[in-house]
Amino acid sequence: MVFLPKAGKEKVNSFVQTRDAQRTLWGELMLRSILSQKHEIPHQEISFEKTGNGKPTASPGHIMHFNISHSGNWVTCAIAKKQVGIDVEKIKSVPLRLAKRFFSPDEYHTLVSLPEDKQKEYFFDLWTLKESYVKALGTGLRMGMQSFTIHNNEGNYMVHVAGQHEDLFFRQYHIDLGYKLAVCSEEEVFTEEVTVLTPEQIIENLSEMEEM
Ligand SMILES: CC(C)(COP(=O)(O)OP(=O)(O)OC[C@H]1O[C@@H](n2cnc3c(N)ncnc32)[C@H](O)[C@@H]1OP(=O)(O)O)[C@@H](O)C(=O)NCCC(=O)NCCS
Repeated sequence: MVFLPKAGKEKVNSFVQTRDAQRTLWGELMLRSILSQKHEIPHQEISFEKTGNGKPTASPGHIMHFNISHSGNWVTCAIAKKQVGIDVEKIKSVPLRLAKRFFSPDEYHTLVSLPEDKQKEYFFDLWTLKESYVKALGTGLRMGMQSFTIHNNEGNYMVHVAGQHEDLFFRQYHIDLGYKLAVCSEEEVFTEEVTVLTPEQIIENLSEMEEM
């Protein structure tokens, strides 16, 4: 907790589940370490706020856009020059009625047309892509999950809202067996590979970027 300012400590202390608190804590520490190194400023100078819809943003204002997601053993973040959203999910068994509730009719139709042994994986492809889109927009739960459709256009995912193509770009990354990770961005350029940081590396980076 050494590196967290008061607001961060209060948030972490408010969690009933220790694992949720740990994921949130590591998310903030990871971001502090990356943003302070990228911008060459002490991490104590970085503060986080939230938009009206709850999307975290960072100050000072010139700092890049970012987004965080956590699931299971992973805490992930995406950093970009424009709006970005990220979603990681641990793949598990889910009833199809959930897809009916959260996916658009086209998405649901594509899912149930697949052979049964492919459905679970595709469910989480769609789930993470949809979440990454909502998180890039920053609308939170106000955005109806059925109000837009993710299409797979020869390997490139696209989003359609009311039949119109939206100018946002998607990329999936493989990080671990049993997990899906998707990023949605206003920028068309994506990193080719994910950088994995251990807790020790994050602490070391933060120590290097301490205020003297
Ligand atoms: C809160 C929400 C943004 C993401 O929730 P989630 O998938 O459970 O959790 P994730 O780990 O991916 O993301 C949580 C992080 O998103 C960020 N976040 C919170 N509100 C956000 C918003 N409005 N926009 C973007 N990011 C947001 C925060 O950094 C949060 O981490 P923190 O609480 O540790 O600081 C919201 O979209 C949600 O609850 N979605 C679930 C809706 C659903 O039913 N989805 C069905 C998928 S088809």
